[in-house]
Amino acid sequence: MMRRPKISIVGAGNVGATCAHWAAVKELGDVVLVDVVEGMPQGKALDLAQSGPVEDFDGSFVGTQDFRDTANSDVVVITSGMARKPGMTREDLLEANKQIITKVVSASAAQSPGAILVMVTNPLDTMTYLARKVSGFPKARVLGQAGVLDAARFRTFVAMELEVSVEDVQALVMGGHGDTMVPLPRYCTVSGIPLSELMPPDRIEALIARTRDGGAEIVKLLKTGSAYYAPAASTMQMVEAMVRDKKRVLPCAAYLEGEYGLRDLYFGVPVRLGAQGVEKVIELALTEGEMNLVRTSAAAVRRSIEELKL
Ligand SMILES: NC(=O)c1ccc[n+]([C@@H]2O[C@H](COP(=O)([O-])OP(=O)(O)OC[C@H]3O[C@@H](n4cnc5c(N)ncnc54)[C@H](O)[C@@H]3O)[C@@H](O)[C@H]2O)c1
Repeated sequence: MMRRPKISIVGAGNVGATCAHWAAVKELGDVVLVDVVEGMPQGKALDLAQSGPVEDFDGSFVGTQDFRDTANSDVVVITSGMARKPGMTREDLLEANKQIITKVVSASAAQSPGAILVMVTNPLDTMTYLARKVSGFPKARVLGQAGVLDAARFRTFVAMELEVSVEDVQALVMGGHGDTMVPLPRYCTVSGIPLSELMPPDRIEALIARTRDGGAEIVKLLKTGSAYYAPAASTMQMVEAMVRDKKRVLPCAAYLEGEYGLRDLYFGVPVRLGAQGVEKVIELALTEGEMNLVRTSAAAVRRSIEELKL
């Protein structure tokens, strides 16, 4: 029997609900929104369903507090947990989100033992590591969203500076989803033209700095929460790559077992995403300077994973 992909989204707050919106508009599948807040995911699911006739999308939209409604999902996106407030780092969320992630991943994995888990909750690399431990899923089926967003921020700033279309700007950001992320300007091109031919080094550095602080810049403006439009769009681009088996090459937090000289941690690297989840980690020949940045970032992720005290 053929059926639409089933996509469950845990946490129906800003990021989760916006993910559901993208899933609907792109007709990625049937959506289940889970949240602890009574009525809220039900209300958002009904509201979203009622935009179907206007925007011409089909699909079922269910809101629930009960993980049994997520049974046999193909993909489970985890966005539940605390978000940053001004002055907080992503690491400040570790303790509170550890409890939430342990609970929701265990419940999700029990209902959907064959699903792919896409983690969004911060601190991202650490929560993705925790999710793999709690679920016991193979590494190909547990990954985290960070690099697509970080690269999208860099691409946006480059396009704004050069006054060109964002469509023509490609970029790659590796590393942990935090202050030590590793934007790689050598791999940034505008319609194939290396960025270094279009912009002086000091401007490239300035845009890298803005990208590193990209999340904090928005937290400071919003005051009551963190970014969600671009994070949700980035997450659902990854989900689309998997449910449509597109084999896209995207930077994601993936489990490393020796790639880039790193082992037993989640870290942002370019991967091929398809129906099997993370189908391949792509290893680049980085320069010594780039590798130093990678090692610094990996050390920060490792310190955070140790904080989990697993
Ligand atoms: N990886 C990224 O690039 C990225 C980007 C943006 C936000 N985030 C992270 O995503 C998370 C969510 O951000 P947000 O802006 O949507 O926050 P939010 O506060 O708007 O939503 C979080 C939701 O989680 C729900 N929740 C809490 N405990 C739950 C549980 N046990 N079961 C089900 N639902 C539960 C809350 O009720 C709330 O509705 C945060 O940790 C944030 O830091 C990550």
